Amino acid sequence: MTWRVVRKGETEAKAGLPGTTERILVGRHSGAVHLEVSEVTIAGLAEIPGHRHPFEESFYVLDGTGVVTIGTSTYEVTADDFGLAPLGAPHAWTNLTDRPLRVLRVRAPQPRHMRGEGPYFLSGDVKPPRSGIEPPRAVAAPHRPVGRFESSQLPPPGPLNMKGYRGPRIGGVSIWMLVDELVGAIHHTMFIVEFESGGDRRPAGDHFHPFEEAYYFTAGSAIAHLEGEDIPVAAGDLVFCGVNDLHGYSVTSNEPMRWIEVQSPAPPPHGATFFPDDWHTDADGHP
Ligand SMILES: [Fe+2]
Repeated sequence: MTWRVVRKGETEAKAGLPGTTERILVGRHSGAVHLEVSEVTIAGLAEIPGHRHPFEESFYVLDGTGVVTIGTSTYEVTADDFGLAPLGAPHAWTNLTDRPLRVLRVRAPQPRHMRGEGPYFLSGDVKPPRSGIEPPRAVAAPHRPVGRFESSQLPPPGPLNMKGYRGPRIGGVSIWMLVDELVGAIHHTMFIVEFESGGDRRPAGDHFHPFEEAYYFTAGSAIAHLEGEDIPVAAGDLVFCGVNDLHGYSVTSNEPMRWIEVQSPAPPPHGATFFPDDWHTDADGHP
């Protein structure tokens, strides 16, 4: 089993692209083979030169303000804005303020070096942006793969209903998709999950997937049930589950528990989520 819990602030910050530091929370070093998930800080007034790479890269702004150009479009982004640089698309960043800009960054397929270079390649097609800035809109579209998440977008809590699974074994959940195939992501997804509060109820029954998942907690607290271990987690922590790792959650906070979730490979249209309880039957074939 490859699951692990990464505590807030415990990962060492290292130099990344010019002007940036990064804490790699999930990656090859931690047993992941599809996902890389990092907290990236772009220093005040820093510019990240135009570059492209053989993996998709999505981001969710945690705090600060910055400007990003992806292809031919430029956006000013701030907390709760998100976006996608599709595979191979040139992109560049500028932090026009003197305050750090912090983003959750997701890369899939997992980056690797090629012939001693990379995993990214500088691209003169795109310069660090200074003008032509558009604000993100609430719903990202195929031609605008940068959007803004607002809590009012979350639907009322109910049973899980998403690609590859719908049913009652996960309840009291609200989901809002941010990055998926509709905005051009083929290899991964990013979305918001919120579970309603309610004492020690267990809204997410134990299950597993044929893909990797990571959950970056942004509000509330919970017990993560990971392959038979019960582990308290709270905002700022991250849980990673590898393929087939059994996991479930109980909310322990009085406020709703919320996380930013990512998956890679992207879920298949059928057989995305397996609950052992669905497969245990008696001699007559009844549950
Ligand atoms: Fe799951």
